[in-house]
Amino acid sequence: MIDPCTFVIFGATGNLAANKLLPALYHLEEAQRLPEAMRILCFGRREYDDDTWRAEVESTLIPRARHGLKPEVMQRFAQRIHYFQGDLGEVESYHRLRRVLSEGTHFPDNVVFYMAIRPAEFGMVGERLAQSGLNTEDSGWRRVVIEKPFGYDLESAQILEEKLHRSFNESQLYRIDHYLGKSTVQNVLVFRFANLMLEPLWNRNYIDHVQITHAESKGIESRADYYDGAGALRDMLQSHLLQMLTLVAMEPPAALDAESLRDEKVKVLKSIRPIPPSAVHAHAFRAQYARGVVKGEKVPAYLDEKGVGPHSTTETYAALKFYIDNWRWRNVPFYIRTGKRMAEDTSLIAIRFKHPPQQLFRRTQVDQLKPNWLLLSIQPQECLRVEIQVKVPGLEMRTGTTRLDAAYCGLAQRQLDAYEALLLDVIEGDHSLFLRYDEVRWAWQVVDPILKVWAMERDFIHTYPAGTMGPLEANRLFDRDDQHWRDSLDASDEDNI
Ligand code: BG6
Repeated sequence: MIDPCTFVIFGATGNLAANKLLPALYHLEEAQRLPEAMRILCFGRREYDDDTWRAEVESTLIPRARHGLKPEVMQRFAQRIHYFQGDLGEVESYHRLRRVLSEGTHFPDNVVFYMAIRPAEFGMVGERLAQSGLNTEDSGWRRVVIEKPFGYDLESAQILEEKLHRSFNESQLYRIDHYLGKSTVQNVLVFRFANLMLEPLWNRNYIDHVQITHAESKGIESRADYYDGAGALRDMLQSHLLQMLTLVAMEPPAALDAESLRDEKVKVLKSIRPIPPSAVHAHAFRAQYARGVVKGEKVPAYLDEKGVGPHSTTETYAALKFYIDNWRWRNVPFYIRTGKRMAEDTSLIAIRFKHPPQQLFRRTQVDQLKPNWLLLSIQPQECLRVEIQVKVPGLEMRTGTTRLDAAYCGLAQRQLDAYEALLLDVIEGDHSLFLRYDEVRWAWQVVDPILKVWAMERDFIHTYPAGTMGPLEANRLFDRDDQHWRDSLDASDEDNI
């Protein structure tokens, strides 16, 4: 049985709540996974009463409900929702919140505080919660969910961590990275450690390089306020993409519990070869979208987005090359990139294998053997694909690429969104898919030299037309001419059969 709880959302009227949290909670309601007595208390600055707020939530959910908004589900969901008008910076609001939470039997004693707010406010809200006694667990547990980015760089992450630890103990903190809630991302672990077949190949002897791509066709929407100060490296790469890298590269954990898993992920981050300032340009590339056409629609340049300064050099595209200096991965490049306003929406882990050691088919019609690829597509389609070479039917000795797809490829319907899984984990008190501070710290350590160099070089940034897969100049990161980006699951070689 899951404990009933009160789920407080700070920043309930914002972007994250509308796009991810409220839809995730609604879908959990639909799946009847929420504890019966659970209440959702939405903290916002604007004036609403419960009824007008519920109507607002309903209209937010209409376009976002996976199977269309179901009136009976919405009715149940609405009954859980309450609005609390307050000011995040004002301690009096928290005293009032405490009184509201403890009055009568309306709100269950256990409380989740979800920080769907600007990262700069995490520390302050943590402090205010403590000042009003909302951190103590005398009656029921208190859990705090902190969104990413956790800090702004290595130093600010450390300050935030210290601040939070003055008011909360580690078991109360849930540093969320919603990519860890995506089922294909979790599948990386199952795929690697539940199958014997691949393990002997999963190392520098057989793998040529690894690519991790996250591309989205969306721009920055209404988030200039946050994004212009963050940029793609902090927004996606330091967190989501490095987390994916750790799962691809880690050693098998001693057990599947939270600590064993996180110990192994930290080892990977610690083994990433540090990038000295003089090597930043050889390892990192940034760019910003210019105007262009995305999916047939004209879209403005980043600099013309509302709220972005006319001379901003914030990157909306970042590509990096890492080496992991351990026994398994020494000298295997890991290429990682992310971008907004790209041609497609895709998240893909692509692993390219080396060529066979003997060129047996040299004297035949086969001019050059194509390498094997292993592709783990996270979205839009969940898929696991292996590309192998086979003989093309016919009298001649020609080869072509064919695919082995896991049976679930092509099933368009995703049953569970990442946030749904992770919100349930918070309610159930399971930390496995949340970040420990040392993971966050090491991830900052990895990107910090790049951030510092980029922060100094503010007079120029490359651009790419919106609706493309980023600038061609980013190809300079590749170690060899025969390496190139895999843009999507299907962007395969011409000679597919
Ligand atoms: C968020 C970033 O963490 O992840 C956004 O702040 C980005 O900028 C989003 O769009 C991507 O997540 P998903 O699940 O839509 O791939």
